[in-house]
Amino acid sequence: MFIRSIHLENFRNYGRLDLDVGPSVNIFYGDNAQGKTNLVEGIYVASSITSHRTSKDSDLIKFGENEYKASLDLTDDDTSNVQLSASYYTEKSALSKNNRAGRLLIRDNAPVDKISEYIGVCNIVIFAPEDLNIVKNAPAFRRKFLNTLISKISPSYFNLLSNYSRLLAQKNALLKSIRPGDGKNNLADEQLDFWDFSLAELSAEIILKRYRFSKLISDIASRHHRSISGGKENLSIEYSTIFGVVGALETFLTKNSKYDDYMSKGLSEADYGRIKGIISDLVLAKLKSVRNYDIEKHISSIGIHRDDIIIKLDGLVMKNFSSQGQQRTAALALKLSELEIIKMFVSSTPILILDDVFSELDKTRRLSLVSAMKGAQIFITCTDKNMIGEEIDVMQGADKAEFYRVNGGDITREA
Ligand SMILES: Nc1ncnc2c1ncn2[C@@H]1O[C@H](COP(=O)(O)OP(=O)(O)OP(=O)(O)O)[C@@H](O)[C@H]1O
Ligand SMILES: [Mg+2]
Repeated sequence: MFIRSIHLENFRNYGRLDLDVGPSVNIFYGDNAQGKTNLVEGIYVASSITSHRTSKDSDLIKFGENEYKASLDLTDDDTSNVQLSASYYTEKSALSKNNRAGRLLIRDNAPVDKISEYIGVCNIVIFAPEDLNIVKNAPAFRRKFLNTLISKISPSYFNLLSNYSRLLAQKNALLKSIRPGDGKNNLADEQLDFWDFSLAELSAEIILKRYRFSKLISDIASRHHRSISGGKENLSIEYSTIFGVVGALETFLTKNSKYDDYMSKGLSEADYGRIKGIISDLVLAKLKSVRNYDIEKHISSIGIHRDDIIIKLDGLVMKNFSSQGQQRTAALALKLSELEIIKMFVSSTPILILDDVFSELDKTRRLSLVSAMKGAQIFITCTDKNMIGEEIDVMQGADKAEFYRVNGGDITREA
């Protein structure tokens, strides 16, 4: 599947953009602050709903406006076409119902209710300077990396996450409203029992996916890392969740010799049910053990909303010990593993975006990146189009590249 045209309305610094693009390498060049990143962000948002650089949907609306729309016309060949369109509106927009902000997703002219029916349609992997956050910043960035990857492979995972967030928000609202000793605690306890039970069930399913994909990412990223860094250092990642859960999961898998099944084709329904039961019981017990503390502090102190993946280089936690260059190499290896995993599970040719990445990488890293990208439709942004000749050759041959000049929210394709 590749993009034939891109349409933006009131998205960042674009008032309106209708742009046809080529099926191969598309290079957007221009000075700083002209709208290169905004354009690729628009492409990414139209396919994946969330932005790679902000979690606030309202940031994406052009200043002074009340809604944006980002759409893509996609095609497999001449016969099969898909149109995707993502909008977000503020409470002031004419699209708003009951004065509420919200999101509108449209696929082939029909509204889509379930996000999971939208995000798997077109797979895009984006490489951007923000990738460094995965290695060096707070756990939320690593959860986002893991969540985005798993959602692309398993759209139902996205539903699990949204259900979890909804229930957690309800539980937190209840925790905030309880005043210890006000006589209503029996009722509150019953309600908390209900939330905790549901949260534990959802947690078990989310944990089973996160553990498996963390292992896969670790294996594949460490291979990419060895090849980029010349085999000098060893990269590994470990899934970190509620204390004791990973141990219980690993014990189950080794005791029943199920590790290989779990990693490759997945567990049988019976085994899945057993391990899901073990994990949800454990999570429920943990939630109950901190209930008094959580009531006192009005928070959910433990849970998969605090999960992390620990990225290590030769056994040392990278966030605390590594250099800029080491972090950049690790981030690149992680993103290459994302690309490879998406190729393995869902699409042999995901669409690729490289936002301003060449200027930050040395030649070895640049070539490792582009050699993983042969044959894909690619969108590249840069300030100087003359900097990337050899890379384009490696990707598919310079004759197939299209060049576009980006200038103040306006794009002109070179003849
Ligand atoms: N919501 C918005 N509405 C209008 N303009 C915006 C909005 N968000 C960002 N901008 C503007 O878009 C411009 C930045 O665009 P963008 O990040 O795409 O630049 P760029 O071409 O990628 O530059 P660089 O080469 O520095 O990466 C800035 O001038 C910024 O003020
Ligand atoms: Mg930019």
